[in-house]
Order: sequence, then C-alpha cells, then structure tokens
Amino acid sequence: MKKRIAVYPGSFDPITNGHLDIILRGLDIFDELIVAVAHNVTKKSLFSIDERLKLIRETVKDYPQVRVDTFKGLLVDYVIRQNARIVLRGLRAVSDFENEFQLAQMNHTMNTQLETLFMMTSVSYGYLSSSIVKEVAAWGGNIDEFVPNCVKNALKEKFHRD
Ligand SMILES: Nc1ncnc2c1ncn2[C@@H]1O[C@H](COP(=O)(O)OP(=O)(O)OP(=O)(O)O)[C@@H](O)[C@H]1O
Ligand SMILES: [Mg+2]
Repeated sequence: MKKRIAVYPGSFDPITNGHLDIILRGLDIFDELIVAVAHNVTKKSLFSIDERLKLIRETVKDYPQVRVDTFKGLLVDYVIRQNARIVLRGLRAVSDFENEFQLAQMNHTMNTQLETLFMMTSVSYGYLSSSIVKEVAAWGGNIDEFVPNCVKNALKEKFHRD
C-alpha cells in the first residue's frame, strides 16, 4: 500500500505542547509526518531556523515516523517534492479560521492535487500558541506545562532567567 505522508508546516518558534499534540495525533492517521519549518518573510522570530529544528528534533526523537525539515518558497512546491499531497494544520479558535481558510484555498488553487486537513486543538491546548509562551517566558512566568523540557531551557537561556 502507498505510504500516507503528510506535511505539518509552521513557524514553530518555538515548538509547544500544542504542536506536539497535533503531531502525535497526526501519527495515528499518517505513516509519515514531515514537520516543516517555514522561512517566514513577514514574521519576526525569536529562535533561528537551526535552533527551531534542533528543538523539534529533540522533542520528537522517540518517533521515527516524524521527519523534521525546513523549506523556503511555496508550500505547495515543497509538499509535492516530498511526494506528499496532504498538508496538516491545527485549528484552535474561530480566530485561526479566516487565515487558514485563505491559505488552504490559495494552496488548493495553485495545485489541485493538494489537500489541507485540519485537526481541532485538544481541550487543554486551545489557548496555547508560541507567541503566548514567549510572552509568559519573557516576564518570568512558569511555562512548564506548555512546552517540552528542551524548549523550557532554551527560553530560559534566551531571556537569561533561571
Ligand atoms: N495549541 C495548538 N493546538 C492546535 N493547533 C495548534 C496549536 N498551536 C499551533 N497550532 C497549529 O500549528 C500550526 C503551526 O502554527 P505556528 O507555528 O504558527 O504556531 P503558533 O503557536 O500559532 O505560533 P504563533 O504564535 O507564532 O503564530 C498551525 O496550523 C497552528 O494552527
Ligand atoms: Mg500561528
């Protein structure tokens, strides 16, 4: 049978337990999941691409079906190059919808082979985003339940707190 491969793209700046939840649930559906860190031209980042890749790799090290990669350029081109057709995205709230809807339709228009699948956030992660984690960490708040351990340490280092 053909391998079912999906690409889970995002900025992952940094990876959170909300992302990890989508990854693990995605693994129940797909044979292989490619977590793809996008070079975003409009978003200012805290972690470099290499730092983000490292943190994701550490987080998913026990799951050989997960591949961690980065790409420049159009997502549609990247997905096809990976011999995949499915883009996996998470939806947290109505606020995610508008943007995701635009993106999915634009991608499908550019390549009709491509489908975007949305997974609803888990109850416990509906409020969780990389931005909010960075905000809390910057002010010295406790982020233990929001991010993997390696991310917690990396954030502490960025903000010089211990
Ligand atoms: N807590 C979460 N639950 C479900 N999906 C999520 C969660 N956090 C992020 N995602 C999804 O993961 C994908 C990649 O998101 P992204 O890298 O932009 O993370 P983010 O947390 O939204 O970061 P930022 O705050 O920088 O926008 C998107 O489809 C996003 O909706
Ligand atoms: Mg986002």
